[in-house]
Amino acid sequence: PNELPFPNAPDTDYADANARETAKQALQTVRQQLGKTYLPLINGEYVPASGYIDSVNPSNFEEVVGRVGQISVEQAKDAIEAAKAAFPEWKKTPVRQRAGILRKAAELMEQRRTELSYWVCLEVGKALQQADAEVSEAIDFCRYYASEMERLDSGVNYDIPGETNRYVYQPRGVAVVISPWNFPIAIATGMTVAALVTGNCTLLKPAATSSVIAAKIAEILVEAGIPKGVFQFVPGKGSTVGNFLVKHPDVHLIAFTGSQEVGAQIYADAAILQPGQKHLKRVIAEMGGKNAIIIDESADLDQAVQGVVQSAFGYSGQKCSACSRAIALAPIYDTFVARLVEATKSLNIGPADATSTQVGPVIDGNAQKRIQEYIATGKQEAAIALELSAPDNGYYVGPVVFRDVAPTAKIAQEEIFGPVLAVIKAQDFSEALEVANGTNFALTGGLYSRTPSHIDRAAAEFEVGNLYINRNITGAIVARQPFGGFKLSGVGSKAGGPDYLLQFLEPRVITENI
Ligand code: SER
Repeated sequence: PNELPFPNAPDTDYADANARETAKQALQTVRQQLGKTYLPLINGEYVPASGYIDSVNPSNFEEVVGRVGQISVEQAKDAIEAAKAAFPEWKKTPVRQRAGILRKAAELMEQRRTELSYWVCLEVGKALQQADAEVSEAIDFCRYYASEMERLDSGVNYDIPGETNRYVYQPRGVAVVISPWNFPIAIATGMTVAALVTGNCTLLKPAATSSVIAAKIAEILVEAGIPKGVFQFVPGKGSTVGNFLVKHPDVHLIAFTGSQEVGAQIYADAAILQPGQKHLKRVIAEMGGKNAIIIDESADLDQAVQGVVQSAFGYSGQKCSACSRAIALAPIYDTFVARLVEATKSLNIGPADATSTQVGPVIDGNAQKRIQEYIATGKQEAAIALELSAPDNGYYVGPVVFRDVAPTAKIAQEEIFGPVLAVIKAQDFSEALEVANGTNFALTGGLYSRTPSHIDRAAAEFEVGNLYINRNITGAIVARQPFGGFKLSGVGSKAGGPDYLLQFLEPRVITENI
């Protein structure tokens, strides 16, 4: 029988006038605080940093969202020492108490949700409604992992007459969380609280472009009562501080979400036994995707077009779950492309905090340049079906649809992480599946179809971690769609699912002869 469903935090309904009024005030509050300085948190103290970076609003790069102190390698050493010192107490702290801190953090996030949504909106250029959904996800992660740890803590007995066998879990030790900018509150919170509730002392090193939001997470955890040294906020450069932490002999676990290149490097670096290291490190790496949606000849095309547009261009395609390939079957191919182009044309592109905006900017100048290069490559490889223009006072890239793309083309194989969609024609359903499976990734996938045999075949043969039938392929919900992939999309089990916390724990068995 199914258990009672997990009570997910509801998103804000911005159709409601009160909610819109609250939002207006929250935006004002956030704007008044722009440009403030945030310091690293080491051993319970906010400490002066060795350097500072400006985190700017990608919708308007003249606006500095905050200045964030960057730790030095020396300070990273201090943080590891503090984490080690705090570990014995934290390990002994009853699970109920650890879970209580997560629940308190969830409550604080709920109280501040509109303000937090605007920090997301202004720092990483995510439209308000989507930022709001992300705050819900962060709240869910806190509550779900709190309950999950309580479930695991009840242990299992494998007793037989004359012998008790207790199966119990203990924390691993020191965890380093390296979080991405694209889900700056949900994913950073999820990985961090999973590491904490399982009893590990945790260092959070966020992506530079989302470090103000990470500083907010740190403030919330402190207010929720996290002890000193147990959680530390350590913004810093990946090539120096990140690298140092990953290779440190006293680190037991690294939870990473980001690009495949960086994830593979972390996996390799973490595998090397360092002098004095007495354990092998566990790496959880959630990486990229080159996700496809198949549209067959029986699909409801209105639904398919809407789902593809949302999945491809929501948050400017900057989700590992985003659709970057649409594979349409020959009989409906031309109709689908024509309708897709019309629907894409009607998207509003603009600053993330404008209520009418559907597609905001991309994260920064490097991303903008990289995406533009892919668009130039695409023009050599395939035909343009649509290229939209975009404002130029922020890091904007207008959505682009390529048609008649060869399955082996660069734009059909490499993760672009931008609003660029490759449409591919397949002669039949078998070919569509073959094309869909023909990349190095296996994260999300979708099928629009009203043919039961196709739906069954997709369930069996479409090689992805999360398969969505007749709906969009982004926006997994905690405890309902545990999220994560395989192949080069990642290593580790699904976030927001029943196996996730096990990765942060060491199981032990205690046998007593009685
Ligand atoms: N969990 C997100 C989604 O499903 C991606 O990280 O869109």
